[in-house]
Amino acid sequence: ALITLRQLLDHAAEEGYGVPAFNINNMEQGLAIMKAAQKCDSPVIMQASRGARSYAGDIMLRHMIQALSEMFPKIPLCMHQDHGNNEATCLSAIKHGFTSVMMDGSLKEDMKTPADWDYNVGITKRVADMAHWVGASVEGELGVLGSLETGEAAKEDGSGAEGKLSHDQLLTDPDEALDFVKLTKVDALAIACGTSHGAYKFSSKPTGDTLAISQIEKIHAKIPSVHLVMHGSSSVPQYLQDLINDFGGEMPQTYGVPVEEIERGIKSGVRKVNIDTDNRMAITGQFRKVAMEKKKEFDPRKFMIPAMEEMEKLCLDRFERFGTAGNA
Ligand code: G3H
Ligand code: 13P
Ligand code: NA
Ligand code: ZN
Repeated sequence: ALITLRQLLDHAAEEGYGVPAFNINNMEQGLAIMKAAQKCDSPVIMQASRGARSYAGDIMLRHMIQALSEMFPKIPLCMHQDHGNNEATCLSAIKHGFTSVMMDGSLKEDMKTPADWDYNVGITKRVADMAHWVGASVEGELGVLGSLETGEAAKEDGSGAEGKLSHDQLLTDPDEALDFVKLTKVDALAIACGTSHGAYKFSSKPTGDTLAISQIEKIHAKIPSVHLVMHGSSSVPQYLQDLINDFGGEMPQTYGVPVEEIERGIKSGVRKVNIDTDNRMAITGQFRKVAMEKKKEFDPRKFMIPAMEEMEKLCLDRFERFGTAGNA
């Protein structure tokens, strides 16, 4: 059944677990997530970016979500807009059946220019008011995602701010977080702690200086009842880098967010954990493997099936390690 983000995260907070929010663009990703959830009895958050909405089409996505909730009737399913850039994006998502939206006012509408406090509070509050009138949930963001090593949002495959960011922008301030939630009434708050979008997050295994889980602990101490969201939470596991590179890929060595650090975050109020890159890598790794090992193959299903299985395995692992399993 479809549920809102608020309903799901309130339960997660009561029981002390986190919920992965997996990005989807197509049917195969939707099926992989739901099959994993079914196997371990997990509730699900699926999210679509603006790019996903234009790739698949709003009507396709709306019917896909309906289809998935019919096919897996026992799995609670929250459909969320990832990184909404303005009121129109958020409201049209709700119109197309999304039960939750992110209004990302940490950046301006172009999603590249860091926004100031008044802009962020203003637009996030307007979206929260409107969404709440019709029963949808809202995630806001305070702080800008980006690397504490370089001061930049991850480039190449990641989206985010342009130009250099200061330490202040890259770490959400606990006192500001308290005011922001009071003023906007968001249901969940995305915070910045040194993660960034895409595969190229850290140039070596992160330390307390580059991945500030301690900042999450400070924020949680200040606003213990607020559901926190961690973006850029792919772990970029070595086995997937190897799978891609063993079959013709040329991804430079990179490091993501270790799952044990996410587990630490979950102990400090992180309830929604955004993951896209890991699943992209799972799919691409299997595509490459089939392409290299079975050079006569041209049936797309022969590529899609192992790709879905690799993604399902990753989703299942996160459901189990975040404590989501058993809570459907
Ligand atoms: O925010 C980044 C997510 O991974 C979505 O990426 O905008 O390429 O669909 P996308
Ligand atoms: P990753 O690129 O680490 O998967 O992050 C995804 C994300 O934050 C989507 O909003
Ligand atoms: Na989001
Ligand atoms: Zn994100």
